[in-house]
Amino acid sequence: DTVHVLNGPNLNLLGTREPDVYGRATLSDVEETCRRACERHGLGLVFRQTNHEGELVSLLQEAQGSLGVVLNAAAYTHTSVAVADAIKAVGLNVVEVHLSNVFAREAFRHHSYVSPVALGVICGLGIEGYRLAIDALAARRVS
Ligand code: DQA
Repeated sequence: DTVHVLNGPNLNLLGTREPDVYGRATLSDVEETCRRACERHGLGLVFRQTNHEGELVSLLQEAQGSLGVVLNAAAYTHTSVAVADAIKAVGLNVVEVHLSNVFAREAFRHHSYVSPVALGVICGLGIEGYRLAIDALAARRVS
């Protein structure tokens, strides 16, 4: 079984991007955390980042057949009907993750197109959220 961890726009800049909000960890650090979590569960990992909405849709389609997806759609969370439709189309378990607590931030971050089609949502726990999301998908695996 494989877990796909998909990251949206600007997350390639983690580490230097608004560190007060997102922390000092880089996207490579996030990938390392995910790799360790997947290894612990005997799961394969596909880890990707894109700045493009349509590419994120394609990456969700490519996750078909996997155990599930950990998705930080970043700003597209709040804007993208296409990403929500892709999640519905593939019918996969998707755990929505945000590094920051979006509910403690601007009002436009309080709405998510992803949440209604997600299995669950984790936000505000930084990098740890990715690990928890992988643990949750692994726990639901039927072997
Ligand atoms: C984010 C929160 C989003 O509101 C924001 O647009 C991001 C990152 C997070 O991980 O906290 O780019 O998804």
